[in-house]
Amino acid sequence: MLAGWRVGRPETTIRAGDTMAGTGDALGAEDLRELSSNAEAVVANLDRVVDGLQADARLATQTVVRPHPLLVLVRSGQVSVIVAPACVLERGRALLEPYVQALAQREAVLVLCGRPRDSRFDLAADSEIAAVLPEEPTEDELVTGVRRALELLHLRRTSTLPPAGAMPYLGVQASPTDSMRQADLKTVLSRVAQLEVLHKVGIALSAEQNRGRLVEMILLEAKRICNADGGTLYIRTDEDELKFAIMRTDSLGIALGGSTGGEISLPPLPLYDPVTGAPNLKNVATAAAMLKQSVNIPDAYHAEGLDFSGMKVFDQRNNYRSKSFLTIPMVNSDNYVIGVLQLLNATDPDTGDVVAFGPDQQSIVEALASQAAIALSNRLLLDGQKELLDSFIRLMASAIDAKSPYTGGHCERVPILTEMIARSLCDAREGPFRDFQLDDDEWYELHIAAWLHDCGKVTTPVHVMDKATKLETIFDRMEIVRARFETLEREAEIRVARALREPGADADALRRQHEAEVAGLRDDLEFLETANVGGEFMSPDKQARVRQIAARPYRQGGEERPLLAPDEVANLCISRGTLTEEERVIINMHIVHTIRMLEALPFPRNLKRVPEYASGHHEKMDGTGYPRGVYGVDMSVPARIMAIADVFEALTAQDRPYKPGKKLSEAMRIMGFMKKDNHLDPEIFDHFVRSGLYRKYGEKFLPPALLDEVDEQALLGIQPTPIQLPDGAMRAERQQTLLPPYRSR
Ligand SMILES: [Fe+2]
Ligand SMILES: [Fe+2]
Repeated sequence: MLAGWRVGRPETTIRAGDTMAGTGDALGAEDLRELSSNAEAVVANLDRVVDGLQADARLATQTVVRPHPLLVLVRSGQVSVIVAPACVLERGRALLEPYVQALAQREAVLVLCGRPRDSRFDLAADSEIAAVLPEEPTEDELVTGVRRALELLHLRRTSTLPPAGAMPYLGVQASPTDSMRQADLKTVLSRVAQLEVLHKVGIALSAEQNRGRLVEMILLEAKRICNADGGTLYIRTDEDELKFAIMRTDSLGIALGGSTGGEISLPPLPLYDPVTGAPNLKNVATAAAMLKQSVNIPDAYHAEGLDFSGMKVFDQRNNYRSKSFLTIPMVNSDNYVIGVLQLLNATDPDTGDVVAFGPDQQSIVEALASQAAIALSNRLLLDGQKELLDSFIRLMASAIDAKSPYTGGHCERVPILTEMIARSLCDAREGPFRDFQLDDDEWYELHIAAWLHDCGKVTTPVHVMDKATKLETIFDRMEIVRARFETLEREAEIRVARALREPGADADALRRQHEAEVAGLRDDLEFLETANVGGEFMSPDKQARVRQIAARPYRQGGEERPLLAPDEVANLCISRGTLTEEERVIINMHIVHTIRMLEALPFPRNLKRVPEYASGHHEKMDGTGYPRGVYGVDMSVPARIMAIADVFEALTAQDRPYKPGKKLSEAMRIMGFMKKDNHLDPEIFDHFVRSGLYRKYGEKFLPPALLDEVDEQALLGIQPTPIQLPDGAMRAERQQTLLPPYRSR
């Protein structure tokens, strides 16, 4: 695709019928790669852009041409929109040289695909950039962006605007024409200011990710354009109501919603009559929404057919006089009204008098509302998807917590503690974390990773996860062992009864022998019962006794066999806890499944680190953790935070059977040993101690009886054992592969 282009210098003027071929040198793949590291993808995207623009019926009367692999021109009469990827502004501004005059004379304007990675770009309010679309815009975003840019160009041509002259962001200069020099300066400057605001807002709108700040920006900029005293932005709800999102009345000092945090208590406005189902055309905001038309009212007190009773009550209470209204529906690319923008009391900047909204103001606010509708619609859609994803990961976490009483509320509490530690590290102004920060994307990555950190536990068999005793499989096999001992007792009774019937039997001797045998059996059973619980260390002599008991002959189904099967012996001889090595690996495998599950998910670029953050919580700083045995220096800070949160939650959890939660001092003492052994990150652990986060968490989730004193100085004084770090190649290999017990399962 790339090698086939011959471009060199594009044409120097923009004409109908422009063709994509130039006469210069062949532009090879190398040249394009100098402009963009992923030139293939950028060009392919522009191919799609051309196809989309050419095929769209809404641009049927425009000419779409491709003068260069990285430029697309959409021409309409005397004006042209130049669609270009952001890399053209980053590295290939020479490509725009032929269009400088057209840009300066406001006969052309740029629509960018993607935002240039240029720190000066935020300051750029240059009028040559009409819109910044996503890197890979949808056809609707593209067509809407191009159409708005064309509208803007036509609007400029009908006004008496001067040329742009200097375009500081592009770094070029052009000369104005004589006719433009003669324009009325006051009108022109005001118009320029409005257009500049519109452009700036267009750029800012596409960049704003917070819904509250977005609606605030839309309303405040619209107010500023019209010098309006007040305004309201309504958002349409799923229940077909217009909900107050933000309100301002400057002269009354009213500022509610948006970033103010002030709640708006006014009830939403129904778009349809709840009884008849008819469209609600009584209220100006609902009428504008239902009719998809702007409503410009010079004086509401003289307006007919609309209900302004609420406004009149408001005026009376506040000694205010609402007069001029400009109400504009915000329609998205699906032609669906997503909100309404309403401005109140336009004010003459010279006299301060309340005046009607002029047609120029209306057209520019309509252009703003149109851009804003797309930005807001995208934001609402993204927020909706984010909420859905959030609900899904919480559902997944609660399913894991519900699967076993042994995990209790672990999956729910680890994210809380993880985020507490991360927040505190971001707030640190001194020490090793004084420069540590997470941006919005990294916070969201950490949030998802923490909620899904044990998602692999869905695959762990419940009978292993919940194994309370050594002989437990899907039930505790101690029951069978007890039954066998009962059988042995019965057999002993039968034996003694028979012996007593023998002539000349020594009854006393037989009874003593029987009692001794029964006592021995009961003692052995009691010993096995104790061993089965797994609370005590099984020393080699205790293990020998298990084997000795196991070897006792036992008849079942007419066959003689050992009293305990080999697997039962192996389980009862577990030296600590209740799990065999095999079962421990099965439990530990949950983290491998977590990695596999998360790596299989198509996380977008801004969430790519979720698997790394989530998968490191059983790794240790000295490389003795699992499943990869990576070293702390190779782990991200969020992954190391999660390891501490995971351990502290598990030690203090109150909702697990057979295992009471530990007191703060006990939990922290154990974690102190883990600091010494370099199992936990010593610096994050010290911050955890020094900040008192362990106590803040404890006060929220632990009963007061467990909140005892912790010797912080002793914990901070622990010196971690120095780590012998292997060479980089070996560490890099560990990051890529699983340790042998965790492979191919
Ligand atoms: Fe885990
Ligand atoms: Fe966990």
